[in-house]
Amino acid sequence: MSGVSLQDLRNIKEATRHRVEFTRRTCLMLCGGTGCRSTGSLEIKEALQEEINSRGIQDSVDVVETGCNGFCARGPILVVQPQDIFYQNLTLQDIPELVQEQLVNNNPLLRLQYKDPVSKQILPRQQDIPFFAHQLPWVLRNKGIIDPESIDQYIARDGYFAAAMALLELTPEDILQQMQKSGLRGRGGAGFPVHLKWKFAFKETSEVKYVICNADEGDPGAFMDRSILEANPHSVLEGMLIAARTINAGKGFIYCRTEYPLALERVQMAIDRAREYGLLGSDIMGSGFGFDLEIYQGAGAFVCGEETALMRSIEGGRGMPRPRPPFPTQKGLWDRPTVLNNVETLANVPLIILEGGDWYAGVGTENSKGTKVFALSGDVRNIGLVEVPMGTSLRSIIFDIGGGIPGKRDFKAVQLGGPSGGCVPAEQLDLPVDYEAISRAGAIMGSGGMIVMDQRTCMVDMARFFME
Ligand SMILES: Cc1cc2nc3c(=O)[nH]c(=O)nc-3n(C[C@H](O)[C@H](O)[C@H](O)COP(=O)(O)O)c2cc1C
Repeated sequence: MSGVSLQDLRNIKEATRHRVEFTRRTCLMLCGGTGCRSTGSLEIKEALQEEINSRGIQDSVDVVETGCNGFCARGPILVVQPQDIFYQNLTLQDIPELVQEQLVNNNPLLRLQYKDPVSKQILPRQQDIPFFAHQLPWVLRNKGIIDPESIDQYIARDGYFAAAMALLELTPEDILQQMQKSGLRGRGGAGFPVHLKWKFAFKETSEVKYVICNADEGDPGAFMDRSILEANPHSVLEGMLIAARTINAGKGFIYCRTEYPLALERVQMAIDRAREYGLLGSDIMGSGFGFDLEIYQGAGAFVCGEETALMRSIEGGRGMPRPRPPFPTQKGLWDRPTVLNNVETLANVPLIILEGGDWYAGVGTENSKGTKVFALSGDVRNIGLVEVPMGTSLRSIIFDIGGGIPGKRDFKAVQLGGPSGGCVPAEQLDLPVDYEAISRAGAIMGSGGMIVMDQRTCMVDMARFFME
C-alpha cells in the first residue's frame, strides 16, 4: 500500500469498526499477554478453534488473541463479546464443555466464571467485577478489544488520527500547548513535565534530532511497559511520531530489553505495518514530514534504564550514566538534541491530541493529571495490571481492585518505585496516588511497580534485597 491519506484512515475505520464494536459475530477474546501465555493460552486458542470447527460453527464465531487483559492472576482468560462474559483459569479439558454451553446452548458455564469472594455471588460480566469496575482504562483503552497485530483495528479505535492532526492541522506550538494544558508528566519515574522536555528540544536548531522510547523497565515487579507494548504497540509508535513532529526529529529508537520477546515481536510487526501504510518513512500522509524508527535491544542491565546510560548503550558504549547538564534535550544521542520518554508517557500522547489537553487534565489531582498504570503484585489477591485516575488511594488499589490480602493476614506495607523508591506502611494506606504526596511519604511514584507485603514480610530482608 502506498502512504495512507486522512480519507484512507477514515475508510479503514469504517470498514473495520464492526470488528472492534463486535456487531457482526461472536468474538472469543483470548488474552495473549505474557502471563496468560505462560499458563497455556496459545494451546487453548488452538483447542477452541478446533472445537469450533468440529461443530461447524466457525462462520459465526471468531477466536482472537488480544494483548494483556490485566487480571493476570486469573489466566488464561477468555472474554466473550459482545456479551462481555468473563471466563477464568481455563484448562484444555474445559474447552469442549465451554463451547457446548456458551456457544451452542447459549448458557453461561458458571463454574468458570468469577465468584465474588465476599458475597459469593457469580459476576458474569467483566465490567461488573470489582477488579475492572474501579479502573479507568485510558492508556489501556484497547486491551481486550483489538488484536495487537492488526493496524486496521488500531485505526478503527481512532488510531493514527491524532498523528494525522499533528501532521496536517497543528503546528508544533499547538501541540506543545495541548501537552502543557494536559499536565502530563513523565511516567518513567521522575515525573518531569512532558511539554517542557519537548519544548527544550524544539528550541534547539540542530538539523539532526532524535526521539527515544525507554522500554528498559528494570524495576522488580514492574510489567506495565511490557504489557502496553504487547497489547497496544501502535499507541507508542503514534506517540513517538507526534513527539518527532513537534521537535522535528527524523529518527527514533525504541530501547527494549531483550527479555521481552513478545513485546519485541509485536513492536517490530507494528513498525513494519506502519511503514507499509506510509505512517513511518518519508512524506508521512503527504505532510512533507519524515520519521522512521528502529528497535535497539538492551541486554537487561538495570542502569541502562537511566537515560544517559541508555543513550551511551545505543551508541555502542558501556551503559554508564553521565552527569547532567548538558541535558539530553541539548546533547543527547550522538550529542544531538534528543527527547527520551517512557513507554506509558508516549502511549498517553495520542489521547491528549485527540481529546485535547483540557479534557485530559479533567482527571487527577492538582499537580498529577490523567491516569497511572500499576503492576500490582506480591501478597495481594488480584495480581495484575491496573490503571486508575491519579489521586486514587493506595487502599482503593490494594483492597477494592486488588481484593486485599489473601489468607486473612494483615497488610504491612507496599513497595513503590523500585530500588530508588520506598515502602509505604499501613498507617498511610489512604495516601493518594500523586507524585508529591508519595514523595512526602518517603517513596516515589516510580514507573508503577507496586509490591504488596503482608505481616510475614521482614522489612530488613526487603531492604537487603533491594541493596543487593
Ligand atoms: C537507575 C535508573 C534506572 C531507570 N530505569 C528506567 C526504566 O527502566 N524505564 C524508564 O522509563 N525510566 C527509567 N529511569 C528514568 C529515566 O532516566 C528517564 O528519566 C525517563 O525514562 C524519562 O522518561 P519520562 O520523562 O517519560 O518519564 C531510570 C532512572 C534511573 C536513575
